[in-house]
Amino acid sequence: MAQLVLALDVPERDKALSLVRDLADIVPWCKVGLELFILAGPALLRELKALGCKIFLDLKFYDTPHTVGQAARAAAAVGVDLLTLHCQGGERMCKTAREAFAGMAARPLLFGVTALTSFAHGEMPGIDAAPSDFALFLAKRAIGWGLDGVVCSGLEVGPVKESCPDLLCLCPGIRPAGAAAGDQRRVVTPGEAVRNGADFLVVGRPIVQAASPRTATRLILREMERYGFQ
Ligand code: C5P
Repeated sequence: MAQLVLALDVPERDKALSLVRDLADIVPWCKVGLELFILAGPALLRELKALGCKIFLDLKFYDTPHTVGQAARAAAAVGVDLLTLHCQGGERMCKTAREAFAGMAARPLLFGVTALTSFAHGEMPGIDAAPSDFALFLAKRAIGWGLDGVVCSGLEVGPVKESCPDLLCLCPGIRPAGAAAGDQRRVVTPGEAVRNGADFLVVGRPIVQAASPRTATRLILREMERYGFQ
């Protein structure tokens, strides 16, 4: 059953909190990414948690195994529920991040970014494979590296689930019919993502930049509901 994640891609703490207050009763998860985390830091994560949100911290770690392990443990200590790193960081980096949660009472779900949904074929430096093939290649390794799930486009969920049924799939690049793709390249509608088997749908601009974020959210949820969601 797919769950909706609101990407809080806004430049102010107050704006983020007001969006969450408006939507928390219908959207269970919120995502804090680079811009908002740089501006508002861990204090905001605690405030969001106090509002009852599940927190997805999307900093997409990619560094040496030790550095990423320490960062993952620090994020877990703040109470983050889901955390991302790049699968391209490789086996040692991913395993070190997973092992960094050892001994903690609670740990975040650990998701590996495969091929960013903003990549079209030919845009990934040094990689000739199509982004969808590369995403599947990385997803097949992710379970053995201790990851709970992968970030991939809704176009890749079917093949990923077929090869790795236990891997959770989180999909950005969600665009309701007629919505501007912006910088995203591998996009699907909310209904397509759910139908293909996505576990989490991450939506930013189509909600955050809507005249009424609540109306936009309700339309997305209604479309998801037709295919079954939580
Ligand atoms: O505004 P939009 O709906 O495109 O936002 C998508 C969100 O998902 C952004 O916050 C972006 O950072 C994130 N994301 C992505 N592609 C990935 C991983 C995360 O677009 N592979």
